[in-house]
Amino acid sequence: TRRFVLTAGAVCVAGLLAACSKTDTPAAATAASAPPAPAAAKVYVVGTDAVYAPFESQNDKGEIIGFDIDMLQAVADKAGIQVKFVNTPWEGMFNTLGQGDRDILVSAITITDERKQSMDFTDPYFDARQLIAVPKDSKVTRFDDLKPLRVAVQTGTTGDEAVSKLLGKTSTKLKRFESTPLALKELESGGVDAVVADNGVVAHYVANNTAAGFKAISDASFVPEQYGFVVKKGNAELLAALNKGLAAIKADGTYDQIQARYFGAAAK
Ligand code: ARG
Repeated sequence: TRRFVLTAGAVCVAGLLAACSKTDTPAAATAASAPPAPAAAKVYVVGTDAVYAPFESQNDKGEIIGFDIDMLQAVADKAGIQVKFVNTPWEGMFNTLGQGDRDILVSAITITDERKQSMDFTDPYFDARQLIAVPKDSKVTRFDDLKPLRVAVQTGTTGDEAVSKLLGKTSTKLKRFESTPLALKELESGGVDAVVADNGVVAHYVANNTAAGFKAISDASFVPEQYGFVVKKGNAELLAALNKGLAAIKADGTYDQIQARYFGAAAK
């Protein structure tokens, strides 16, 4: 064999380029006689801000887990597409679509008219609302009570939007953090008086961090929100596949099972 390789190399060096390229590119050589090999199945890259339990978080092994992950995985299975989850910071997440770094975003993302201008949402997969976290001894009973107080939010979320309206976008009493856990830590250390964030996350935190001594306050003035999966604006094919998968898991009970797993049978 060694002798053959040397010979073949010598042929190339001798300048018989047609012969060389023929042996070096089997695809081209077989194209005429055999149908083209199927392209390797695309793996869609899913961005998720995995510090948002119970929707998305990382376990001890560094695996990304949660309600959103189970939902999208089930949707992808029905849609017949392959997905891979990649931890992606919330800030800048939406830009990753345009750059082509991410194909899908799942991150408890609320469908809003403003966001719809620059990205495409699937049908809704979850109902949510804002919820207020305060220390147990706080006198706050409704959203309006936060007016004179210091309030922490995650930057660029619907919680940020709600509190921006109440306190003013540039209020110094409004403290923005890059993640919701950081905002909740600030409340724990007394740097703020309240946190406003998605109900599922606040309720989960209050229940699982009893040492923090928080309670959750709901307020009817918060507008109902719905989460959707996100794709790059105009990616109609992928959007249709996801919507088809979502309809399928709603029809066959998988959707309800996942809801029950995370939020109990009574929820929704
Ligand atoms: N639902 C809220 C919004 O869309 C907050 C989502 C934050 N998600 C996250 N994984 N950090 O603005």
